[in-house]
Amino acid sequence: MTKIHAAITGVGGYVPDYILTNQELETMVETNDEWITTRTGIKERRILKGEGLGTSYMGAKAVEELLRKTNTDPKEVDLIIVATVTPDMPFPATANLVADQVGAVNAFSYDISAACSGFLYALTTGAKFVESGTHKKVIVVGGDKMSSIINYKDRATCIIFGDGCGAVMLEPTTEEVGLMDSILRSDGSGAQFLKMPAGGSRIPASYASVEANLHYAQQEGATVFKFAVTNMAEVSAEIMQRNNLTSNDVAWLVAHQANKRIIDATANRMGVTDDKVMMNIEKYGNTTAGTIPLLLWDYEKKLKKGDNLIMAAFGGGFTWGAIYVKWAYTA
Ligand code: UT7
Repeated sequence: MTKIHAAITGVGGYVPDYILTNQELETMVETNDEWITTRTGIKERRILKGEGLGTSYMGAKAVEELLRKTNTDPKEVDLIIVATVTPDMPFPATANLVADQVGAVNAFSYDISAACSGFLYALTTGAKFVESGTHKKVIVVGGDKMSSIINYKDRATCIIFGDGCGAVMLEPTTEEVGLMDSILRSDGSGAQFLKMPAGGSRIPASYASVEANLHYAQQEGATVFKFAVTNMAEVSAEIMQRNNLTSNDVAWLVAHQANKRIIDATANRMGVTDDKVMMNIEKYGNTTAGTIPLLLWDYEKKLKKGDNLIMAAFGGGFTWGAIYVKWAYTA
């Protein structure tokens, strides 16, 4: 029987207009442009302003663009998965809200929480519905409104994160393109190093939890850095090896944009040169589940049918992984 692959057939994206520069951060916390640029590669990030606007607002904008670009009637969409750690609210799922906002009335929809690896988890999960033959049009969204959980007095986190969302369409094909392989991992013992402690069932919201700043993302940067460098590079090398790919076969590394030094270390381990490394960290910072689809959004015009892409991520959980995608179209 011919194998059905799940091919990415389009990309949409959305970033808010407001630009938070390193210079503006210098007026908010004890930091400077030179430190941020050399330690992370970030120059600016986008911030979603406006009362009552959450992640679903950005997700819906990204999906609307995706539907336009792929000429898709929202009624044809079977499933929408949203990867995020900043849902509009604990429930209902942000995916339910996105589906409603874009008119995807025949889709079922749910969220996935895997922090910076969320898009890889969601893409792998969405692909299974397509590969099984049960679903024909699956939209995978990754994005976060990180500004909603960032303490702008904490220089360990506020210089890194930004807001934004990307979305891709998955459709079945019998050609040798699409999602070819995926390795996903997690280790909950890393939770202590990168987390938002309150607002869940363990520490529900209270005056005390707000007073203690427990509703903000907290990170032990240097520890996360160490685990990220090792694991992202390791899993990227592993997926190349088990698919018999050499660095010459890889057209693009599509790595989570957390820190330019982590991305460089991953590329180095894979033997991939700088010109094959997608990079937009300088303008968006770390948008958590948004980084990988926003890279695809920015680089779509450069991608050609048959290009081998290695996507890789590491983040809170800890979660990490790599996906091998053979690109399905020339834009
Ligand atoms: O996407 C989710 C996963 N997250 C990540 O992958 C992030 C991983 N971690 C990182 O990217 C880096 O650890 C950071 C960018 C967060 C921090 O960079 P670092 O090179 O690990 O710095 P550090 O925390 O070890 O601090 C080095 C120095 C310290 O000063 P001393 O003790 O050497 O005098 C800090 O106090 O830099 C100081 N520092 C800063 N200085 C200016 C820390 N943050 C800042 C800052 N501005 N924002």
